[in-house]
Amino acid sequence: MSNPSHIFIVFGTRPEAIKLCPLVRLLREQPVRFRVTVCVTGQHRNLLDSALAAFGVEPDLDLEVMTPNQSLAKLSARILERLDPVLDREKPDFLVVQGDTTTTFAGALAGFYRGIPVGHVEAGLRTGDMREPFPEELNRALTTRLSALHFAPTAQCARRLRAEGVGEEAIQVTGNTGIDALLWVRGRLDAGELPGYEGSIPEARHLILVTAHRRESFGEGFDRICTGLERIAGRGDARIVYPVHPNPNVREVVKRRLGAVAGITLIDPLDYVPFVDLMSRASVLLTDSGGIQEEAPSLGKPVLVMRDKTERQEAVEAGTAVLVGTDPERICAEVGRLLDDADIHASRTRVHNPFGDGRACARIADAIHSFLKT
Ligand code: UD1
Ligand code: UDP
Repeated sequence: MSNPSHIFIVFGTRPEAIKLCPLVRLLREQPVRFRVTVCVTGQHRNLLDSALAAFGVEPDLDLEVMTPNQSLAKLSARILERLDPVLDREKPDFLVVQGDTTTTFAGALAGFYRGIPVGHVEAGLRTGDMREPFPEELNRALTTRLSALHFAPTAQCARRLRAEGVGEEAIQVTGNTGIDALLWVRGRLDAGELPGYEGSIPEARHLILVTAHRRESFGEGFDRICTGLERIAGRGDARIVYPVHPNPNVREVVKRRLGAVAGITLIDPLDYVPFVDLMSRASVLLTDSGGIQEEAPSLGKPVLVMRDKTERQEAVEAGTAVLVGTDPERICAEVGRLLDDADIHASRTRVHNPFGDGRACARIADAIHSFLKT
């Protein structure tokens, strides 16, 4: 075991960067305990670079795996093939992955093959349905099997891990590191230390912020989502702002269906800081994103989730999130209920933090240190 311990952090997509950069920063503030190597797979190229910039984190290594419209098999193979020689050379004491992407699973597998203990940040999320979200539900389960330490964001997640036979000593309830990131950015926006969203948005009574990218919705699901958004725009009192994910399976249909619809503004994906600012200004968040379901309660924003199942049940139980699926009628009706009934809107806007208190990274750092020193 090296002294300080060598921690190797692997990530590749926008949400992983947002949720791991605060941990990178914190571990780097503790040079007596930790030496950190940040290795990005580059599963996302543009989205990743923009998320890294928000936190001023520069990767030490970049595997540059992204190809246009990449298949899951090819992506997994490229990550394994490029990461393995790096791990052989670096020989870290501990490897950290986050979440449920292909980078998460392939990163954990590469570490496992080299006998390096793996720590899984955001462990224990489950819908119980392998098809939704696809392939994330499988990635979560496989990453659990490959990991030595499990950082569960909530007590519910820890219970699920125990039910799957993970030992109590390997589980830490830490909160979600995404809330560390959000509270840090929110505080700096409030203090005027960071610029917010500076694009112009046409005036309207209500601002609705939309994101969508789930693979299981490609094709018919996205067509239905677009129909729902057209109907909402038809109300005439709402401005829909939709930063469109760069995945060609999303971008092509959204541009074709919504590019010329009055009331809808399509924009490129936003950097994290202006996106947090726009979330704070919106009346309603309409999304299939995992991270946004967690951020909404901390910002006191109602969130309608365009999926049939969620692994973030805490936000539904607290009344902030409602599952609306991809049925256009339902999407339009639920948005209408929020926009037209001030009492319903107010009942869903309590600011609370079911997913974390902003100190998840500190707990994770302590847990890794104890694990490596005992
Ligand atoms: C991925 C994750 C998903 C996560 C999402 C967050 C997998 C299988 N999917 O989905 O779990 O919720 O990221 O956004 O791990 N592209 C670019 N530039 C980018 C990013 C993507 O051009 O910066 C395009 C490329 O053509 C790429 C395609 O989008 O091949 C798909 O990217 P990929 O990472 O495979 O899937 P996502 O849909 O982004
Ligand atoms: N986000 C962003 N810019 C955008 C859209 C989302 O910075 O244009 C942030 C959002 O605040 C959240 C994260 O990206 O922190 C969620 O990423 P995404 O929805 O791509 O992935 P998921 O969370 O579903 O895996």
